[in-house]
Amino acid sequence: MAIFLCGGWALDQPEGRAEQQRWLQALQQVLPGEDWVLQKPDGPAQAAAIEIAVVANPPPGSLQGLPRLALIQSLWAGVDRLLQDLTLPHDVPLCRMVDPAMNEAMVQTALWATLAQHRGFFRCQQQQRTAQWRQPAQLRAGEWQVLVLGQGELGGRVARALAGLGYAVAGWSRRPRAGEGLRTLHGAAGLAQGLATADTVINLLPLTEETRGFFDAARFAAFKRGAAFVNLARGAHVDEPALLAALDAGQIGHAMLDVFREEPLPAPHPFWSHPQVTVLPHTAAQTDPRSAAEVVAANVRALRSGAALQHGVLRSQGY
Ligand code: NAP
Ligand code: GLV
Repeated sequence: MAIFLCGGWALDQPEGRAEQQRWLQALQQVLPGEDWVLQKPDGPAQAAAIEIAVVANPPPGSLQGLPRLALIQSLWAGVDRLLQDLTLPHDVPLCRMVDPAMNEAMVQTALWATLAQHRGFFRCQQQQRTAQWRQPAQLRAGEWQVLVLGQGELGGRVARALAGLGYAVAGWSRRPRAGEGLRTLHGAAGLAQGLATADTVINLLPLTEETRGFFDAARFAAFKRGAAFVNLARGAHVDEPALLAALDAGQIGHAMLDVFREEPLPAPHPFWSHPQVTVLPHTAAQTDPRSAAEVVAANVRALRSGAALQHGVLRSQGY
């Protein structure tokens, strides 16, 4: 039996091949002796030998015609792009990446974004361009309210880390959750409550049918005036013209954006030069092959021993 390592890597380019090799080496370290398929199967015999697909947003259709496929393991945390592939085998379990190193990186990014907004450091950076010496007000952390949308692997950790630093944190999720030292909210009423008072709103929702275009003009109008918006999840959560209008009207004070509708963000996009926008190149939290390979190996072993798979995606809910 073989494992198909299949991504959106451009294998006709040296960078694409190098990226695939980086993953292969990390996976071979923890799964020695496996037979790896690195290209589209060369015929029915090779296709029939594939038991597991380890995937990084492969081109649509890549997993068709694999009769013995028993597990699809994503190297990405978000499976929105994968689930858009209507040819993805429906009856094969799909697991997503929950990587400890990625979780840690996401907490770091969210802390940086919140700290920089709370302490006025993004404004200082702007002032520097015109040699302005103006000290921002120094509020205490407990006087700064943060709303974290999504209380899963990433959002939950971010919320707890911010609460640990003394911020007044609320976490919003789809279903009611027990809070661990923070205020928990759910449903439309919980969202309205959280948005109305938050100084920083951090998006860590998965992209699903329910959350696509979630941040539109009406949603931004429900924010506390001048609040900061931090998007660390997916670009398609945001109506970009609505965000620009909310920034220009002062309804949103600052946007820290890691993800965009089109990536790489095109050079003429107004976000690049907007004084109230900080752009990151989808780098809030990358999967780390060293720790992610262990996560893959654990699921490969679980599949073969009949144990429960970890981090399964519920396709009906889209995450
Ligand atoms: P997760 O563990 O699946 O958590 C998802 C959370 O969102 C859960 O708390 C869930 O609520 C909540 N949720 C889902 N749909 C909702 C809705 N309609 N209304 C309210 N809450 C809803 O996901 P995760 O691992 O934390 O990852 C979140 C997302 O981060 C990924 O899907 C990906 O898009 C993004 N991401 C970005 C980067 C980056 O570098 N920028 C890196 C990794 C991941 P329940 O608890 O009630 O289920
Ligand atoms: C990154 O955005 C991921 O979903 O892993």
